[in-house]
Amino acid sequence: MHTELGIDIQRALELLQEGKQVAVPTETVYGLAADANHEDAVLGIFAAKNRPHANPLILHFDHLASAEPYMLAFPAVFKLLYQSFCPGPLTFIVPKSSLVSELITGGQETVAIRFPKHQVLQDLLKEFGRPIAAPSANLYGQLSPTTAQHVYSQLNGRIPYILDGGACDQGLESTIIGLENERVLIYRYGSITAEQLAVHLGYTPEAKIHEHGGIRTSGMVKYHYATQTPLYLGFKNKQGQAADLQILLSDDQTVSEPKMILSQSGSLTEAAQNLYATLHAADAIGVERIFVEPFPQDGLGAAMNDRLSRAAAKFSSND
Ligand code: TXA
Ligand code: MG
Repeated sequence: MHTELGIDIQRALELLQEGKQVAVPTETVYGLAADANHEDAVLGIFAAKNRPHANPLILHFDHLASAEPYMLAFPAVFKLLYQSFCPGPLTFIVPKSSLVSELITGGQETVAIRFPKHQVLQDLLKEFGRPIAAPSANLYGQLSPTTAQHVYSQLNGRIPYILDGGACDQGLESTIIGLENERVLIYRYGSITAEQLAVHLGYTPEAKIHEHGGIRTSGMVKYHYATQTPLYLGFKNKQGQAADLQILLSDDQTVSEPKMILSQSGSLTEAAQNLYATLHAADAIGVERIFVEPFPQDGLGAAMNDRLSRAAAKFSSND
């Protein structure tokens, strides 16, 4: 299959209407979109990514009213968070209605819904008038894409069209939350931090990022977000070997080359924007090993440490 890369929203719309898969920009990472109400279109997402069917997909909507028919309830506390953060990088796990196919949810009774902020995707959703299912537009287990070019390098030949909407603003996937015993829980760390949620909740939501009770989120898969080059979370040493690349939050003159810096000013927001792009670049330059300095474990640092430790798990375990 020939993969075209362009900025033609109308073309993307037509392909979605035909039940095809299209990579689309979001404010977090690029998504691999298809008509959520069309079984073959959804199956095509799993096929293009080599993704196991048990791993459920997020439904994307332009706003809450469009999502309501697809869920049985949207708790008041979610409405509050919706008003504060949406459209934006927050995904809600809610009980699904009968309109949502088991293909989307991996057989679970809950569905993940999200209201993306990127204007191009907003326009597409409004025109399309149906939910769009979209996981991140990478091959299963590999690095998430934050540019159209990243998508092309992994999915070339597997999908007909990549809609280029520029580099993603946030650079990290959405935060996934659920509600259990009247408390909001974080199922996947992401662009919205626990601290930001706490301002509205009056308490800091606990993270529940390990497999439990049949709930599956990508954060719960052990190997994920991985580079091809062996990657380690940890600071190697000041005088690294030439074959080892070190990725640092901010520059440290005492660390030798080769190194890459995520933010000259040490900003976690900027580091999150640059993280995947830096890992894609690091993967492409042909070093033997990549070492990434762990981030402080709060705010976006928690989300970045989570992604990196899952990438590193692929290289540091024998199973
Ligand atoms: O920022 C994002 O969320 C991006 C953009 C494209 O929207 N999407 C994304 O999708 O990261 P994906 O599929 O790569 O990760 C979403 C995760 C899935 O791995 C899945 O396990 C989890 O959301 N998920 C989906 N439905 C769920 C459900 N009903 N219960 C628990 N987790 C669910
Ligand atoms: Mg993903």
